[in-house]
Amino acid sequence: MKTIPVVAMIFLVALLCCHAAAQGQRQLKFDSTRGEFKILQVADMHFADGKKTPCEDVLPRQMSSCSDLNTTAFIRRLIRAEKPDFIVFTGDNIFGFDATDAASSLNAAFAPAISSNIPWAAVLGNHDQESTLSRGGVMKHIVGLKNTLSKFNPPKARVIDGFGNYNLEVHGVEGSSLANKSLLNLYFLDSGDYSTVPSIPGYGWIKPSQQFWFQRTSQKLQRSYRNKPEPQKGQAPGLAYFHIPLPEFASFDSSNFTGGRQEGISSATVNSGFFTTMVEAGDVKAVFTGHDHLNDFCGELSGINLCYAGGFGYHAYGKAGWARRARLVVASLEKTGKGSWGAVKSIRTWKRLDDEHLTGIDAQVLWSKGTSSQRVLD
Ligand SMILES: *[C@@H]1O[C@H](CO)[C@@H](O)[C@H](O)[C@H]1NC(C)=O
Ligand SMILES: *[C@@H]1O[C@H](CO)[C@@H](O)[C@H](O)[C@H]1NC(C)=O
Ligand SMILES: *[C@@H]1O[C@H](CO)[C@@H](O)[C@H](O)[C@H]1NC(C)=O
Repeated sequence: MKTIPVVAMIFLVALLCCHAAAQGQRQLKFDSTRGEFKILQVADMHFADGKKTPCEDVLPRQMSSCSDLNTTAFIRRLIRAEKPDFIVFTGDNIFGFDATDAASSLNAAFAPAISSNIPWAAVLGNHDQESTLSRGGVMKHIVGLKNTLSKFNPPKARVIDGFGNYNLEVHGVEGSSLANKSLLNLYFLDSGDYSTVPSIPGYGWIKPSQQFWFQRTSQKLQRSYRNKPEPQKGQAPGLAYFHIPLPEFASFDSSNFTGGRQEGISSATVNSGFFTTMVEAGDVKAVFTGHDHLNDFCGELSGINLCYAGGFGYHAYGKAGWARRARLVVASLEKTGKGSWGAVKSIRTWKRLDDEHLTGIDAQVLWSKGTSSQRVLD
């Protein structure tokens, strides 16, 4: 008699586990009615203890009614308004120094994404490990949350620096001939926190082990894109998400970027070569970072757009009167001669401000098929 409930319990646990595992492996794919895939990027939430945590850099009259809960409310409004297919959190998800318990803060920070039932992913910033969990501990916790496609690290890379280096494929429209092909590749990297090399001050950087993994992954994806079945020409475009901007973000001024720069580019003080590695690989069309909350521009260098999202969180430094914001990206498929959906035709971006109407600004095309370097490769 006693064993029956135990067996039932085990069965239930097994069901719950496998249901969660199946959900965790949810395949990203292009929407069948619009032929689009829309990504919401949330940078620098800096979440801490919720209602108890005050806002930074808001107008004096806004101070008394403002907390981490305003960050939560902003994500909820954005999800309702944009209905993204995927949400990416690009680090400093929590502001560790002010978070009493890292796990609780992470749970609260990602709660709007989790409850929306939209698949989401996160990478680490430089502040995520400053509470009660190590960097590895934070990433492990994230990977265990509901609806996330985040991964701890690639299973086959025996040695890789950092936590949360992984890639995700976005397949063609279900039922179309490209349903099993990755038409858009998403790369996520851990850009580190601080240098541990005494002679090098400042922030961390993307290490050779991570670049090697990226290079191999990109080559593998490009091969399968061009191979049977349904061999494609050229490369499927890629997008890379991480926290700390590359030194190359400093290549622009207002004559050649879209958006704003109101502070310096806080990259590592050394250049570890990841930009060159991406140019060489050839598939990445845009890079999306956070870290510098008052910068929200996109500029193109050597065929790659380098984009900031702009600060999102209310317990993060900002500028009073300058709205918190988020970046959206939409990849659109072309129609083939036969009237079904083909490869990616264009990638567009814009930002939304946390004002009354969630004002959209700085819409621009980041990449179109058949232009510049792509034509040469075809
Ligand atoms: C924060 O949220 C409160 C409660 O909804 C609201 O009254 C206040 O205006 C918000 N503050 C900011 C700066 O958005
Ligand atoms: C995609 O893969 C599934 C499962 O392996 C298969 O049933 C289906 O026929 C494939 N579709 C195409 C268009 O190749
Ligand atoms: C942007 O313009 C500035 C001068 O206005 C120039 O020095 C810089 O090289 C340009 N950057 C790119 C990436 O074209």
